[in-house]
Order: sequence, then structure tokens, then C-alpha cells
Amino acid sequence: MRILVTGSAGFIGFHMARRLLDEGHEVVGLDGFTPYYDRNLKLCRHGILLQRPGFSGHEAMLEDCAALQRIYGAGFHAVYHFAAQAGVRYSLDNPRAYLDANLTGTFNLLELMRHAPPAHALMASTSSVYGANAKVPFCERDRADHPLTLYAASKKANEEMAHAYSHLFKIPITMLRLFTVYGPWGRPDMALFKFAAALFGGRPIDIYNHGKMSRDFTYIDDLVEAMLRLLNRGPPLAEVRGPPLAEDSLSPVAPWRVVNIGAETPVALMDFVAAIEVATGARAKCNFVDMQQGDVPVTFADTSLLSALTGFTPKTQLKEGVKAFIAWYRDYCGT
Ligand SMILES: NC(=O)c1ccc[n+]([C@@H]2O[C@H](COP(=O)([O-])OP(=O)(O)OC[C@H]3O[C@@H](n4cnc5c(N)ncnc54)[C@H](O)[C@@H]3O)[C@@H](O)[C@H]2O)c1
Repeated sequence: MRILVTGSAGFIGFHMARRLLDEGHEVVGLDGFTPYYDRNLKLCRHGILLQRPGFSGHEAMLEDCAALQRIYGAGFHAVYHFAAQAGVRYSLDNPRAYLDANLTGTFNLLELMRHAPPAHALMASTSSVYGANAKVPFCERDRADHPLTLYAASKKANEEMAHAYSHLFKIPITMLRLFTVYGPWGRPDMALFKFAAALFGGRPIDIYNHGKMSRDFTYIDDLVEAMLRLLNRGPPLAEVRGPPLAEDSLSPVAPWRVVNIGAETPVALMDFVAAIEVATGARAKCNFVDMQQGDVPVTFADTSLLSALTGFTPKTQLKEGVKAFIAWYRDYCGT
């Protein structure tokens, strides 16, 4: 298949593109190489992809309609859409970046898909859309109406924009609600990278909400496996539907659904820190501070829909995943 991956120089897009190439697909990558974090890391990831036959890469912003149109051309069999302004905390100080990349950018892509629909579009959303929900685990059929940051609001808006286009133009779309993804080639703005850098550098780390936090961490290879298995499980059109799955979030009026991808295992922040200490062999100096604005104390995915659709649930143990990250980090940073 010929597949478009947006955000192909990003953490998740890079891994997905690499796996699609391993599976024999032709991959067209698009990335704006934004300066949100170290561009060299993005260039390195893309450099690896560019060495692979079957990959072609383009530097372009989603907001640049003409460039996007040139790359999209007559369309693709499938689209994985990861390009976005990510990050919860950054959205407090730089809200406009989320409007530009996530709203305008995703709209531009949807417009192209309207005229040349792929057989399936898989678009990154986030566990952050569950916002202030107190009921755990978070289930796709729960209401998610109280976002706590503009990042979450922009991703929820993406889900709804995609639903409207899916309904109007019969585009099969799966919205992927991703839960704290980690692993080799990970993002420097996320806790694992920041904590590793601090531990190796002998610097203290900030422990938010005095450690009373937990996250449902998803190892990158598990995420990629799940997203690959979903490729051929596009939401069916209303006219060709079989009996519904009990767990389904399928729209009654569009070939559109939401799927959680998480490990279904929340890990306490201090256990996460302990796993990093073991993997690095260094002791963390913890600076206990209050919860950050816009943060949530717990994320916890109900993955029964993912499992019903794909027969797969993430299985990598946190300590194994952290070990793999630290091995990569040492190599990449020369530590
Ligand atoms: N990593 C996680 O834990 C996580 C969790 C939930 C959701 N997500 C979502 O998954 C997707 C991928 O996340 P990631 O961790 O790989 O982030 P990332 O920042 O590493 O990757 C995003 C890529 O998109 C590119 N990009 C940003 N804005 C762009 C624009 N306007 N036009 C073109 N390219 C642009 C960036 O240069 C970057 O390479 C994002 O949509 C993110 O919101 C990630």
C-alpha cells in the first residue's frame, strides 16, 4: 500500500513509518521540523527513514495548503496523521501553536481527504481529552467534555472535525487516543527524557503533586503494533456493518470510531522514577512540588475495544521499556 505518514520526523511518526516500511509498504513522510524541540533529533530520525527504499520524505507545514496539496496529489491508500503541536504544558504559554497546527493543519488535511478519500485514516488523539473525568479506567464511550488545556481542547476538536468529514464524505477514520508513549527516540520534552538527562547530569528532578500521580505508559513498539493491526480494521460504512461489538465506539452516522491505546496499567510516579534509577544506576534527587496547572493526577486506559478489534494489548513491562530507552539515550547522547 502507499501510505502517508504526517509527523514522520516526530517520535511516533518515525517509528510507525519504519514499521510500515518493514511490512513492505511504500511510505510518504511529511514533517515541518518545527523548533518545539531539538530539530537535530528530528533530522536524525528522518535521516534513518531516508536511507530505506520505499520512503520519500517532504519538509512541509500542514498550514501550507499548496505544499500539502502537492504532496497529497491524487491521494493515498491510508493516512496516519501524527503531525501536531504536542505537549500539555507548552499549551499554557503558546496556545496559538495549537490552533495553527492542530486545528488549521488538520482541517487542511481533511479537506484533501474529502476530495480523494483514503481507504482508512488513522489520526492521533490523546488521553488528555478525558480531561477532568474522575471515573477510571477511561473508556471511549465515556463523555469527554471537560478538557483542561487548549492542547486537549484542540485534540477533542480534531475528533469532532474528523467525525463531520467522515459523515459527510464517507471517509473511514479511526481516532487514536494515545496514553503517555515512551521508548527509544523519544521526545526531549517528556518526563523520561528529562529525568534521564537530570540523573546523568546529577541535577534534581521536579516531582509534581508530591508524587501522587500515575500514568498509563505505553511502550512505543506496542503502540506501533496496535496501530498496524488497526490499519485493516477501518470503521465500516453504515450499509455494510455486521453485528456491533459490545465495546464499540463506532458512530451511528459515520465510519468513525475512537480507540484507546494504553497499557491498562497505571504506574505511580515514584515507581517510574525507581525504574529510571535502576536503568541508569543513578540516584534521583527529588524536588517535590505542587501539581501543575492543567495536569491530571491519573490516566488509565480501558483497552477492551482495542483488544476486541485487534486481539492485541500492550504488554511491555515498564522496567523493560525504560531499560531500552536508557540504552538508546546513552548511545544517542554519548553518555
Ligand atoms: N507521545 C505521546 O505520549 C503522545 C500521547 C498522546 C498523543 N500524542 C499525539 O501523537 C502525535 C505524535 O506525537 P509525538 O510524540 O510523535 O510528537 P512529536 O512532536 O515528536 O511529533 C510531531 C511531529 O509533527 C511535526 N509538526 C508539528 N506541527 C506541524 C505542522 N504544523 N506541520 C507539519 N509538521 C508539524 C513536528 O515537527 C514533529 O516532528 C501528536 O499528534 C500527539 O499529540 C502523543
